Amino acid sequence: MDSFVRVLVVMAFLIGATSAGNFNTDVTITWGQPRAQILNNGQLLSLSLDNTSGSGFESKYDFLYGRFDVQLKLIPGNSAGTVTTFYMSSQGTAHDEIDFEFLGNASGQPYTVHTNVYAQGVGNKEQQFRLWYDPTLAFHTYTILWNPLRIIYMVDNIPIRVFNNYIANGVQYPTSQPMKVYGSLWNADDWATQGGQVKTDWTKAPFTATYKNYNANGCIVNGTTNSCSNKPRQSWQTMGLDANAKKNIQTLQQKYMIYNYCTDVNRFPQGLPKECGLPKF
Ligand SMILES: *[C@@H]1O[C@H](CO)[C@@H](O)[C@H](O)[C@H]1NC(C)=O
Ligand SMILES: *[C@@H]1O[C@H](CO)[C@@H](O)[C@H](O)[C@H]1NC(C)=O
Ligand SMILES: *[C@@H]1O[C@H](CO)[C@@H](O)[C@H](O)[C@H]1NC(C)=O
Repeated sequence: MDSFVRVLVVMAFLIGATSAGNFNTDVTITWGQPRAQILNNGQLLSLSLDNTSGSGFESKYDFLYGRFDVQLKLIPGNSAGTVTTFYMSSQGTAHDEIDFEFLGNASGQPYTVHTNVYAQGVGNKEQQFRLWYDPTLAFHTYTILWNPLRIIYMVDNIPIRVFNNYIANGVQYPTSQPMKVYGSLWNADDWATQGGQVKTDWTKAPFTATYKNYNANGCIVNGTTNSCSNKPRQSWQTMGLDANAKKNIQTLQQKYMIYNYCTDVNRFPQGLPKECGLPKF
């Protein structure tokens, strides 16, 4: 780990989330049984992929804003062609979605962390990152923080991406459609690894990723009820980056961001999306 990130990790440890939910009470395994399993009295959830199917789960609750943490240990060895996810999505055609996806790779080659935000059915806001550690050796914490002001992606409590609410500037932002939290493991060897050139090696199946310490701290919406009404405001509801954190994320992105739609001018011949010209953090 380089020394810059080491300092951020120590700082982040001091402000990290503590409480944890239970997979038995918080999520439902929705597909790929028996490849998905809840273990250790709800403390652990493992997803597997074989040549017949992947697997996945979803939260029992719908949220309108929240902070969502999970620890994840990714597929070791040859994970080429696989995609492991932790994301949020609403239902329907003009859906909103906040993606955290982990694109596998050949043995010894680095995972790619893929992020994207959809609002009203439209995405095209991808940013991709390298990690500063091997995500297959131990559990690391991945966080989606979604409040009315911004979306913050964090790795081990270190912000890696911010997507600001620029509705006032005519940029779509998820504000009204409740989302569920999802986790999944599936085969995407037509595109995931090195542009689809490296395929899943089925002789290595089953592929397994493990989740633990899922913690959804958000506003649960059910019909017309919202669990946050009449409650004191929580810190995640207004969280943003202070001046120092803005400096840190800039340095981190210089080192670890490997793709940014905001610099992909060939992709947007009509001009880059509006938010690309507005303050980033
Ligand atoms: C899937 O893998 C199993 C176990 O390795 C093997 O027996 C089976 O033939 C494979 N099926 C397909 C469709 O490749
Ligand atoms: C896999 O490794 C190759 C070579 O290091 C790299 O170019 C690529 O970005 C890595 N990630 C994926 C998902 O292909
Ligand atoms: C939503 O509310 C209905 C009616 O009160 C209840 O039956 C249902 O279990 C609730 N859904 C969830 C996910 O809690």
